[in-house]
Amino acid sequence: MKDASPAAQPQPIHLADYTPFGYLVDSVDLTFRLDPKATRVLSRIAFRPNPDARDSRFFLHGEELKLIAARIDGHAVSPRLLDGGLELDAPAQPFVFEAEVEISPESNTSLEGLYMSNGMYCTQCEAEGFRKITFYPDRPDVMAPFHVRIEGDLPVMLSNGNPTASGDGFTEWTDPWRKPSYLFALVAGDLVAREDSFTTMSGKHVDLKLWVRPGDEGKTAFGMEALKKSMAWDEEVYGREYDLDIFQIVAVSDFNMGAMENKGLNIFNTSAVLASPETSTDANFERIEAIIAHEYFHNWTGNRITCRDWFQLSLKEGLTVFRDQSFTADVRSEPVARISDVIALRGRQFREDNGPLAHQVQPDSFVEINNFYTATIYEKGAEIIRMIHTLVGPEDYRKALDLYFDRHDGQACTIDDWLTVFHDATGRDFTQFKRWYKQAGTPRLRVTENWMSDTGTYQLTFTQSTPPTPGQDVKEPLLIPIATGLISPNGDEVQATQILEMTEPTQTFTFDDLSAKPTPSILRGFSAPVILERDTTTEERAFLFAHDTDPFNKWEAGRALAKEVLTGMVTGGDAPQAAYLDALATMLRDDSLDPAFRALAMQMPGEDDMAQTLYDAGVTPDPDVIHDAAETLKQARAEHLQDLLPRLSAEMRVTEPFQSNAEQSGKRALGLGLLKLTTRLDGGRAAEKLWESADNMTLKLGALSCLLDAGKAETALAEFRETWKDDALVMDKWFMMQVGHAAPEQAVSVTEALTRDPLFNMKNPNRFRSVFGAFSAHPAGFHQASGDGYRLMANWLIRLDPVNPQITARMSGAFETWKRYDADRQGLIAAELDRILATDNLSRDTTEMVSRIRKA
Ligand code: TRP
Ligand code: ZN
Repeated sequence: MKDASPAAQPQPIHLADYTPFGYLVDSVDLTFRLDPKATRVLSRIAFRPNPDARDSRFFLHGEELKLIAARIDGHAVSPRLLDGGLELDAPAQPFVFEAEVEISPESNTSLEGLYMSNGMYCTQCEAEGFRKITFYPDRPDVMAPFHVRIEGDLPVMLSNGNPTASGDGFTEWTDPWRKPSYLFALVAGDLVAREDSFTTMSGKHVDLKLWVRPGDEGKTAFGMEALKKSMAWDEEVYGREYDLDIFQIVAVSDFNMGAMENKGLNIFNTSAVLASPETSTDANFERIEAIIAHEYFHNWTGNRITCRDWFQLSLKEGLTVFRDQSFTADVRSEPVARISDVIALRGRQFREDNGPLAHQVQPDSFVEINNFYTATIYEKGAEIIRMIHTLVGPEDYRKALDLYFDRHDGQACTIDDWLTVFHDATGRDFTQFKRWYKQAGTPRLRVTENWMSDTGTYQLTFTQSTPPTPGQDVKEPLLIPIATGLISPNGDEVQATQILEMTEPTQTFTFDDLSAKPTPSILRGFSAPVILERDTTTEERAFLFAHDTDPFNKWEAGRALAKEVLTGMVTGGDAPQAAYLDALATMLRDDSLDPAFRALAMQMPGEDDMAQTLYDAGVTPDPDVIHDAAETLKQARAEHLQDLLPRLSAEMRVTEPFQSNAEQSGKRALGLGLLKLTTRLDGGRAAEKLWESADNMTLKLGALSCLLDAGKAETALAEFRETWKDDALVMDKWFMMQVGHAAPEQAVSVTEALTRDPLFNMKNPNRFRSVFGAFSAHPAGFHQASGDGYRLMANWLIRLDPVNPQITARMSGAFETWKRYDADRQGLIAAELDRILATDNLSRDTTEMVSRIRKA
């Protein structure tokens, strides 16, 4: 009889259960005999009992491996094959373990382990993919030097470290730096390199190679420049030098994430490295520069100093994101970078932190680590580092980082180690601060003011509270750095930015000797990842939008104003306020402001952001109503700014040859923002002209987006497809654009039609995301009251799960906001979530995510 009990729920693992592995690894030798269906992996691993460990169990991880032979010190052994690995009785002194296994890269669609992409072999081992390559203690605290031999008849065969031998049908690579298995990489195929070099600050020569498929050579120049800039920046700002003779990057078309920092051999999603003016937008260039920097910076923050276990993931990711954000701020525009980072933080991390998937930056337990590569680990983690930087100041920050590298180089560390370094370097106590790592949820910071005109005293009283999150009902007060300045009625700064350190649930800060009631500018530069709540007037927001000397808060005032207007339109059927439209016009006309800043300041708040804002204010959001209000406001803006548009648009025209720098991209961004308004007035005539004349992808796509808005994109879409059908990255934009611009009631059918296009391919993560990522980012389309959007999404998640569980689990986040909406929508979503959960053989990844969402 068949067992009627439900499938066993995957078991969580706990931070508190950490114990070191019973053995140390002195060396790893791997030989790969490449074959698409039957690759042989021969391993020779020197183990030695770990004097610091109590547990002597010899268990090696291994999944989807066919064991051909195993030996200890040359003698054949028969390991016990268990779920997820093998076990042996190991000698109590140093020994050599050898294994021969067979794997099938061709049938590996999960894009984890060794797999094939377009005829090329490549690997992805973070977090736990190495166990799909061979038997190994696949945990980040086991570090070893690797020697790799690759046998095959492919023109290029690469691995980590320096090349140490090659000949007919083989290459050999030696990585002298001890590393965990998640940083292992192998690539083999028909590849061509852009070559360059870098001389480090101590005069060492480093070969740089950026490998792409033949035909993509023309898209490598920008990536190489970005790499060299990153190398120089890390020397200048952090004193960190590169440590091998060669640094390589490989572009791969099928990749689950942006890129991976494998030691000396970074592997990149093509979308995160290939760039040319004809095929890439300014936003693409910026993202590529940041990701190249991010992965390069991991060489010190991640690789030389790695994580003890995956609960420490933010130790490397939060810090490395903070480093790449600082880099972007330095090489582009600091205010623009900060505003963009905060938009992304609110759009992704706040969304996560205020829903069923909220979790700590250092979690206490998890089921599937792949599900924890989240905005919270990355972006909130980076905000935490930024707050530390703010609290200790730049000099002490650098002193602490020097100590961190000095003390922990070559080690697998914890977040506690990191905070201890800051304590030791600065004398500051980080006990309370550590709550930022251990408390999930976005803190609310309420502020009230008190003006005593007789004494010229001004007081700000702050109250903090963090709402309960799944599994964490009670929250303790956090240490919140609140950067604050005061502005006098005539617009002068009467109190320069000061860091108020809030430690109590409620705390008052007093400012003396003021001659008039000031306007406060609070949380400048977004000095803490909190939601600031302050009852204020439209006039005051408009005043700050006009006068705040802090660019972030100037932008923030404009954003708050726009949200206030939209809220009034949605809840009270108000007309768009003239005060807002006037302030917008004044801002746009102010040519002392960087065009990139003006482009950001004119951006509408997103519809998902509005839904959350309304929900926070106690209103059940209706995506259709929000969409209609946004459309009405856009039209009102266009009409109000009518007279300004021709002149300002002309000023934004770039006449020099294309460059992807901050100056040109700022002009294009503002120009295209204005074109969107113009399109509402001229029915798309200007956009048609731009479509004809544009010679770069930024403008081409901007024009296309306006033509879609105007309902006049049919021929342009056909032309675009014909021109770019062989360029996957450009076609991703073609798919994405059509979904993103579909009218709400047509979004489902447009999306469905696109999945029937012969160029749609769900196995390619970029293509799948270009359609379904865009669909879930279109709230009014996804949330159609019929439930058709939910059904469509669930159908495709169910279909994708057996192919690629990581992407499926990630995309199930489309449903994470479901508790915001009305009972009917919630009922429809619950049914879809239940249907997903009832699917046979649903992956562990998707099971975990969907059940966490469902439990809300
Ligand atoms: N460590 C990578 C980064 O942040 C992230 C990453 C790349 C990743 N590929 C992955 C994480 C696959 C999980 C699975 O740069
Ligand atoms: Zn990273």
